[in-house]
Amino acid sequence: MGVIEVDRRAFLASVGVGSLSLMDAEEKAEALEHYMLDRLDEKANPPDPVEVDEEEQERRGPRGTGALLRPRSEPLPPMPEKPTFLDFFRLRLAASNHCLQSANHALQTGQPERTVLACLLHDGVQGLIRADHGWWGAQLYEPYVDERISWGIRYHGALRFYPDDSVGYEYPHDLYNRIFGEDYVPPDYIREAYDYARNHRWYMESRLITVNDLYAFEEGVELSIDPFVEIIERHFRSPPEGLGYDNSPSAHMWRTIANPDKPL
Ligand SMILES: [Fe+2]
Ligand SMILES: [Fe+2]
Repeated sequence: MGVIEVDRRAFLASVGVGSLSLMDAEEKAEALEHYMLDRLDEKANPPDPVEVDEEEQERRGPRGTGALLRPRSEPLPPMPEKPTFLDFFRLRLAASNHCLQSANHALQTGQPERTVLACLLHDGVQGLIRADHGWWGAQLYEPYVDERISWGIRYHGALRFYPDDSVGYEYPHDLYNRIFGEDYVPPDYIREAYDYARNHRWYMESRLITVNDLYAFEEGVELSIDPFVEIIERHFRSPPEGLGYDNSPSAHMWRTIANPDKPL
């Protein structure tokens, strides 16, 4: 396994030093995670490194938005008329490399299919929105999966900041401290979400997502969605009308992801 090395200077340049002074601890932790996620996806498709100054940040728009809601130079690839989860995964959702890596780790370590699918889904919504992505992701998937899967996704965002020795999970506090020169102190709403999830009977549904949430890659291993297709078929309810056209409570979110250019 190759662990993503964070070059402090490159990371700070990518955030923009001006913005850093305006960010609280949670926003800094998010920025660091996004940076690592982006580096992971670059393993598959390396872009030119970009230094973000204030002008560039302004052009990109709010930091909490996903790439689908930001300016882009190329049009999005067209979606089929009745899109399935696989179509969204291939054509729209974010962090696909990282999610495949996570799901692959869950599969290799013998986790239940439910956990494998949770790992495959856990960060996809970041294509649409990055802020509070655990909550957004849970809402997006809720109508289509076992309740424990979306519950786990909802709380993985808070749990990842807290260690759990019983499963060998350690949040990289050292990395946070090295990059920002201070300890990470979660804001109240994250701590409250953690306390709630920690005492819930489904705690492990969420904790296992963080255990498989690796910022690492296996050299020379080509990741593919193929090993997960049957698991998706078994555990993700696919509406015959296509995702977005089934009148579910999150259908509008799928439509926005499919076509973020719609003016109204
Ligand atoms: Fe995440
Ligand atoms: Fe993740």
